[in-house]
Amino acid sequence: MIFETHAHYDDEAFDADRDALLLSMTEHGIGTIVNATASKKTVEQSIELSKKYPFIYTTIGVHPSDCAEMDEDELKWLGDMCSYEKAVAVGEIGLDYHYDEPSKEIQKKWFEAQLDLARRVKFPVIIHSRDAAKDTLDIMKSMKAEELGGDIHCFSYSVEIAREYLNMGFFIGVGGVITFKNGKKLREVVEYAPIEQIVIETDSPYLAPEPFRGKRNSSLNLPLVTEKIAEIKGLSPEKVIEITEENARRLYNL
Ligand code: NI
Repeated sequence: MIFETHAHYDDEAFDADRDALLLSMTEHGIGTIVNATASKKTVEQSIELSKKYPFIYTTIGVHPSDCAEMDEDELKWLGDMCSYEKAVAVGEIGLDYHYDEPSKEIQKKWFEAQLDLARRVKFPVIIHSRDAAKDTLDIMKSMKAEELGGDIHCFSYSVEIAREYLNMGFFIGVGGVITFKNGKKLREVVEYAPIEQIVIETDSPYLAPEPFRGKRNSSLNLPLVTEKIAEIKGLSPEKVIEITEENARRLYNL
């Protein structure tokens, strides 16, 4: 069944119909969902969701855009949350230079601190990196992130950068952008990357694939992503679903 490696069902975009939507996943072939967290509040909400639904697991981490108020107490609390039985990774963590705030220094500090946390709790890392290719790679290399493993979520860089992460043993997270008219760079990365290192994701409620671009996204749209990967790789959509599920289980140790 389809393994959704990255969605945000705690988001208020799902407040009106969250339960009905999640209850419909299984009948639509979505077998497992990892709900990705971005802040203390979303970690709490995500844990609640994973308690309610047997097929939902959670990451534990603070997003670079949400780290301005972080402190040592919060870092310790995140560490405690990692012992929760359905926690599977530290993330999403990384660098986002799209906006000016928080400062690069603050983002780097908490990125490094959370990479360190992943090492302590022996978790893979889910990386968010936007407009920050060089700094992300430099930090991950200096922190020996290849020993942690993980996923570069919503991969948005070139084949050259993909090669670096693939060589470090990381998975490439592929979502709706692969269907976009301006998604050529990602299609090239998918063509280049071994299928054994690709996982699928929506980043719901964001980044809905064509023909739903701009609308609220959900894991129910993942077949549009697997069809596109199948086309590029010359495989059947069923085979892509099967292989990416195996990959996701290796990624999250499930
Ligand atoms: Ni996300």
